Amino acid sequence: KNIAIIMGGYSSEYKISLISGNVVYKFLDKTKYNCYCIHIFRDKWVCVDDDKNEYPIDRNDFSITIAGEKIIFDCVFNAIHGTPGEDGLMQAYFELLEIPQTSCDYYQAALTFNKRDFLSVLKPYGIKSATSYYLNKGDEINSEEIVAKLGLPCFVKPNKAGSSFGISKVKTAAELPIAIEVAYQEDNEIIIESFLDGTEVTVGVINYRGEIIVLPITEIVSENDFFDYEAKYQGKSQEITPARISPEMTKKVGDIAKRAYELLKMKGFSRTEFIIVDNEPFMLEMNTIPGLTPESLIPQQAEAAGIKLTDLFDNAIQLALK
Ligand code: DAL
Ligand code: MG
Repeated sequence: KNIAIIMGGYSSEYKISLISGNVVYKFLDKTKYNCYCIHIFRDKWVCVDDDKNEYPIDRNDFSITIAGEKIIFDCVFNAIHGTPGEDGLMQAYFELLEIPQTSCDYYQAALTFNKRDFLSVLKPYGIKSATSYYLNKGDEINSEEIVAKLGLPCFVKPNKAGSSFGISKVKTAAELPIAIEVAYQEDNEIIIESFLDGTEVTVGVINYRGEIIVLPITEIVSENDFFDYEAKYQGKSQEITPARISPEMTKKVGDIAKRAYELLKMKGFSRTEFIIVDNEPFMLEMNTIPGLTPESLIPQQAEAAGIKLTDLFDNAIQLALK
């Protein structure tokens, strides 16, 4: 089977994605699969071999031609965080081409990548989230109204982005316009959320060998003001698996993440973030292409569950091919 591992992407997360993609390439079983690394950038879609030779992708059928031989892919392993790999664009393209893919379908990807829409779809099911305020580029910024609704501190986030790019914790009303400007650099929509003072946990839910399972839960203790980019990738945080929460809370938060996965008819990987305040989990977001770098959480959680990375990635391909 020919496997295309897609990585890169058009967002600030492209560097993380290149690491994730290369981890997938490293751990996929080469005796079982012919693996190709495909870089997806705005200016070029290319297959890059071990010697850094580049072969352009034919976008009509996502094929490549190497030494006169056309290679068609049997499956795409999606390791692109952010647009166009996590927001449904690539998913829709591969669905049209009828190439199996490891990620969820385009609709689920688009929905989960939009924090506001995702959380509002789950709200009627009793899944709680922070109080929020939504802005579109060009909207008037009414700091007084925002503070009256959310209180301080509050979090300003791009509505559709990842890896904490563009996120600020705002402590005074005067900081709001700058934080909003920073967030607009990542997305033309932003979401401002009330501060949840509690325990941050992240819950991996995956389909493993046909069964939807909850991986061991990780607690996040950031040395920085919040779990920002530096905390995520430069060691400025403690990630504790299993989380130091009661068995009852472990079940409660795991069940909520699993319920969200099932309600949305998700496929493949998911990692859902929560903050637990007074025994009540508040959902922040769901990542459908979670980081697979050595620092990332899904690899740590899989290891804690006794699942080897080779098996984790193999499972994703086997499910996609079904
Ligand atoms: N968006 C990053 C890659 C994550 O969720 O792990
Ligand atoms: Mg995220």
